[in-house]
Amino acid sequence: MAEKAKAPNGKLGVMIVGLGAVSTTFITGVMMTRKGLAKPVGSMTQYDKIRVGRGADKKYLKYKDIVPLADLNDIEFAAWDVYPANAYESALNAEVLKEKDIEPVKEELIKIKPLKAAFDRNYAKRLDGDNVKDAKTRWDMVEQIREDIRNFKKESGVERIVVLWAASTEVYVPINEKVHYKLEDLEKAMKENDVENVAPSMCYAYAALKEGAPFIMGAPNTTVDIPAMWELAEQTKLPIAGKDFKTGQTLVKSGFAPIIGTRCLGLNGWFSTNILGNRDGLVLDEPANFRTKEVSKLSTLESILVPEEQPDLYGHGNDEDTQYYHKVRINYYPPRNDNKEGWDNIDIFGWMGYPMQIKINFLCRDSILAAPLCLDLVLLSDLAARAGRYGTQRFLSFFLKSPQHDYTEDEVPVNHLFQQYVMLKNAIREMGGYEADEEID
Ligand SMILES: NC(=O)c1ccc[n+]([C@@H]2O[C@H](COP(=O)([O-])OP(=O)(O)OC[C@H]3O[C@@H](n4cnc5c(N)ncnc54)[C@H](O)[C@@H]3O)[C@@H](O)[C@H]2O)c1
Repeated sequence: MAEKAKAPNGKLGVMIVGLGAVSTTFITGVMMTRKGLAKPVGSMTQYDKIRVGRGADKKYLKYKDIVPLADLNDIEFAAWDVYPANAYESALNAEVLKEKDIEPVKEELIKIKPLKAAFDRNYAKRLDGDNVKDAKTRWDMVEQIREDIRNFKKESGVERIVVLWAASTEVYVPINEKVHYKLEDLEKAMKENDVENVAPSMCYAYAALKEGAPFIMGAPNTTVDIPAMWELAEQTKLPIAGKDFKTGQTLVKSGFAPIIGTRCLGLNGWFSTNILGNRDGLVLDEPANFRTKEVSKLSTLESILVPEEQPDLYGHGNDEDTQYYHKVRINYYPPRNDNKEGWDNIDIFGWMGYPMQIKINFLCRDSILAAPLCLDLVLLSDLAARAGRYGTQRFLSFFLKSPQHDYTEDEVPVNHLFQQYVMLKNAIREMGGYEADEEID
């Protein structure tokens, strides 16, 4: 039987890797909400209500009335970044929020000065900031990050820490069984400074887990999605989650594909393209960085509309891997800044194979969509740790584009948004001491 989560004691430290558009929008929003000057729209932990109990005992409660979530007033922030700008300057630079939504918390934001980043330019060539640690080896990087975490804990007086990666997408690191499968091999590679197989993000994750903090990967990096990190999470009894915030186009995809699948319509092809102009877009304009994102974005559809299960419906395209043709493109286009535009063209077919098309044009705001996910992922992984949950937190798949799963055992990830929602609700029920169930509500 699952454990009920213990009540939090003291403050929660949220240490964010990357102090860019997403992080500053998240931090500013939390601070403004605390002052009663903004609403945390889009956050499940702040708004959603779940049914608990059945029949006459049935009640719909907010998460905080089911489980002991940390209060927004008890959060203290810290961050690392390659650039030295503090959170106030960085929020202005990002141009996501209007000044009127930043100024009231200016003093608090100025205090968040980024710690030096554990960074390697080969992992993000388009960045050239100098607020970077001088580390001789990857192991040295780990030691320095661990020290940062310990110092923050001491100076801020927080009781618990969660580390969230909201930094740029690193270049694609293919999984190498000799390095990434066993913890001792990964540690050896860090000590031998194997810079090709050990990304800086792995150093942050390793350091976080060693210092008792859950780690969440918000970019598509493979960081904690390797067996060696699963082993470390098991050993330290801490939650990990990843990868890649499910915000715009993929949210639409994982909510829309079930319409096609549930009504047994056919699919010939799905073409997704995006234009965006923020720093994230700049980094993703580099082919090696885009590859990481592409792998993550492509994986969504294949586990929802499965050619092998329905060859008449999904085995008609011309893509060797997926049968139907699935393509994802991201184009860097500076005038749009953080206001990304995503187009989806979906070629479906119906009765007797007659073709039809669906077009979706989502004019979204990337960081506005990502900020509530940061809050939910942070609060729920802190909660999971207090409920004694450790390893990959599958119930957090709801928030992630490319949910972690045990590929060494051929586990298929759940990408279907509404199945993910059932997993989320059941985990909340269990951590609140209720029984998990799948009753329709
Ligand atoms: N906004 C969304 O909808 C969304 C969705 C899914 C994933 N993401 C991912 O979230 C991440 C953040 O997005 P953003 O728009 O805030 O990007 P951003 O470029 O504004 O911010 C990222 C920051 O990370 C810093 N950084 C890079 N490498 C670092 C390192 N090793 N250590 C410390 N700092 C480092 C950069 O200097 C930059 O300031 C990206 O990886 C992006 O792909 C965003």
